[in-house]
Amino acid sequence: MAIRQVRTIGDDILRKECKPVKEMNRRTKQLIEDMFETMYEANGVGLAAPQVGILKQIVVIDVDDGNQYVLINPEIVEQEGSRTEPEGCLSIPGKHAIVTRPAYVKVRALDEDMQEYELEGEELLARAICHECAHLRGELYVDVMEGELMDNEEEASEE
Ligand code: NI
Repeated sequence: MAIRQVRTIGDDILRKECKPVKEMNRRTKQLIEDMFETMYEANGVGLAAPQVGILKQIVVIDVDDGNQYVLINPEIVEQEGSRTEPEGCLSIPGKHAIVTRPAYVKVRALDEDMQEYELEGEELLARAICHECAHLRGELYVDVMEGELMDNEEEASEE
């Protein structure tokens, strides 16, 4: 496993459309492992492949519900309601903004064995699914935010 460099806003690769994954291979399995490791290292709850410079439709999510979700070629097939809350992105470090997302989504995707499954998410999971799927289309939350980007609070320093 290896931690990969996270691309940040201004990097053109974040604005490109990702290609569907056609088959699973050792290299892609390694990429998925690295994406989880990179996400955990950065204390993120989701990461999309373009954020580590790979234009493939792969997302990893862990919102601390006891599951590690891998979404390959994901497609949101249902959504309901809305929630307006602060949102951040590992590609926009130190910032957040207010973004409205569906309160519920259902997404259809392939898992890491290329088996189709559906995942339903509410609240933070719904938000993460929408945010990460947007990355695969080259979209960032700054495209849909309400108001301005805000600075995150500094973490309290230890005395
Ligand atoms: Ni992001």
